[in-house]
Amino acid sequence: MITRIRIDNFKSLVDFDLPPAPHELGGFTCLIGLNGAGKTTLLQAFDFISQVATGGVAGWLDRREWQQLDFINNRGTKRVITFSVTLRTRSGETIEWNVSFNAYELRCTTETITAGAKILLRLEKRSLTFAGAGDGAEQRFDPIPFEYSGSVLSTLKLAEADPRISEVKASLEGLRSLELLSPQLMRRKARASREIGVSGEKLSPFLDQLSVESKDRLQSLLHDFYPQLTTWNIKGFRAGWKILSIQETFGGSRPVSANHINDGFLRVIAILSQSFTEHQMLLLDEIENGINPALIEKLMDFLVGLGKQGKQVIITTHSPVILNFLDDQVARDGVVLLYKTADGRTRACRYFDQPETGYKLQVLGPGEVFVDTDLTKLAARLASEPREEKTRSEGGK
Ligand SMILES: Nc1ncnc2c1ncn2[C@@H]1O[C@H](COP(=O)(O)OP(=O)(O)O)[C@@H](O)[C@H]1O
Ligand SMILES: [Mg+2]
Repeated sequence: MITRIRIDNFKSLVDFDLPPAPHELGGFTCLIGLNGAGKTTLLQAFDFISQVATGGVAGWLDRREWQQLDFINNRGTKRVITFSVTLRTRSGETIEWNVSFNAYELRCTTETITAGAKILLRLEKRSLTFAGAGDGAEQRFDPIPFEYSGSVLSTLKLAEADPRISEVKASLEGLRSLELLSPQLMRRKARASREIGVSGEKLSPFLDQLSVESKDRLQSLLHDFYPQLTTWNIKGFRAGWKILSIQETFGGSRPVSANHINDGFLRVIAILSQSFTEHQMLLLDEIENGINPALIEKLMDFLVGLGKQGKQVIITTHSPVILNFLDDQVARDGVVLLYKTADGRTRACRYFDQPETGYKLQVLGPGEVFVDTDLTKLAARLASEPREEKTRSEGGK
């Protein structure tokens, strides 16, 4: 479970941390804020960190059609992104991964993984030291004998290393960003895949390879969302092409094969199906897109539920309807306001910890508070308060 990230020099994220200290990231987080505050950027930052761990940054840039330095903060001159990720392992231990990533070379120049005072891995000046598996004897390579892209974790033989090092990698591999989901691409035929694809373009083959049990479970989840849905199935074509087709029944009439599946349904099926994967963290941008409020309520219950079952969910929204479906405590802990300082840096605070909002939550629902509070004014007030920044960074040390 990822409990905190800090990142510096990634687009508008300059000396940024989430959540504000001393809090920890829980199972469910909902990012809100004005347009341009940095919500999508923050989801991209999580995705970027995951790509660093798995060595996929070059492909990630291509898929986004970004140039190499597009993700560097445009006000500075530094070409290095630094970040740290704090994780809590299954056994309850806290582990920190600290990284300096060179955006020209697309790889980490310095990395450390620490568990308390113990250094599990250190890469510095092309010299690599890590704690070994079993007896934990330290292994040292100077200079490092292999080429790597992103983090050394992407290439290192993890079976020979302390298992806590693998756990760091596994947690970041388990992050799935669905912020680019495209209904147009989800409708397409595609060939075998165990993943849904960055834009959902492999939805059909991904659904096809689910176990019989998962398919049944998905069918019953979907039925709850769309009672008119009778079945869904994947049609196979020659050479392994697959396409999703659903059948709907209206008023007792014969099932209709729906080749033109609506956008909202595709987004819902894509999101629900992720609960059958190993992914530990799901990121969803503007969750309300194309999904009507009645379904949103079910979807929010589902996502908050995933958070309680040990997965982590981070969504962004502009919709008070979404917030109204959250329990007060979930809202207090999980709703994070992003705003920008006068010089364009993104900052985060817990929305319901603010004097403008916290007391209102005693009498209004979270979404009603959102409607009743001038977001522009609140963001301006926070942006003008240097004191908060100071407390935050001191508190985080
Ligand atoms: N390389 C960069 N450096 C600094 N700021 C950037 C960079 N790229 C984009 N931005 C800022 O980030 C904003 C976009 O933020 P975004 O995360 O899309 O906002 P939101 O999703 O909250 O609406 C842009 O308006 C721009 O001000
Ligand atoms: Mg956005």
